Amino acid sequence: MLIRHADPAQDAAACLEIYARYVDGSAASFEETVPSLNEFSQRIARISRTHAFLVAQDGERIAGYAYAGSHRERAAYRWTAETTVYLNPEYHRRGLGRALYAALLPLLERQGYRLLLAGITQPNPASVALHAAVGFEDVGVYRRAGWKAGAWRDVLWMARQLGPETSETQMPPAPGPPQRLPAPIEL
Ligand SMILES: CC(C)(COP(=O)(O)OP(=O)(O)OC[C@H]1O[C@@H](n2cnc3c(N)ncnc32)[C@H](O)[C@@H]1OP(=O)(O)O)[C@@H](O)C(=O)NCCC(=O)NCCS
Repeated sequence: MLIRHADPAQDAAACLEIYARYVDGSAASFEETVPSLNEFSQRIARISRTHAFLVAQDGERIAGYAYAGSHRERAAYRWTAETTVYLNPEYHRRGLGRALYAALLPLLERQGYRLLLAGITQPNPASVALHAAVGFEDVGVYRRAGWKAGAWRDVLWMARQLGPETSETQMPPAPGPPQRLPAPIEL
């Protein structure tokens, strides 16, 4: 098993296959229509230009992926990113979510992000446990934030600070270019 940066052309189909089941069959994603392969490939390329998009590869198979994107567009949010992780169910509870985040979070910290947010449609004990395990804390629930899979859904937001904990009086530099793993991580 290894963790590496996604290749938009090579990995889009496998990542989309994983994602499609969460669009169609669950409220984990609030997207209602499975994106086209071309659109998904463009997403990987777009995200890779600003943040990072990592995949976990088991032999020839993609087992899952994790990435970060922007949270909101207003300037003062520029140190904040949103993270997401999706795995093929065959690979759940084998430490892969944790491993993907263990690779992703330091890249975002090095890039200059200071706050990570994850919006988790409830209930999702696996995602809550994963995010808690890597240092995210509950910050609040958007009640009935969206209608998905036949019901109103609450979204729990979890957050994790990055960078120095000391109080600052100077504005930190804006996040720089996306950071790369020096080499694929072998698990
Ligand atoms: C959420 C998800 C990525 C978790 O990844 P995972 O590889 O199964 O999680 P890990 O094996 O790395 O486990 C990380 C921690 O969460 C805990 N955990 C994982 N699944 C759990 C579950 N179903 N119930 C309770 N705890 C769980 C593990 O025990 C572990 O904690 P520990 O290390 O302190 O023992 C995976 O379940 C998934 O892909 N779910 C569907 C998609 C999804 O919901 N994505 C999140 C959208 S917000």
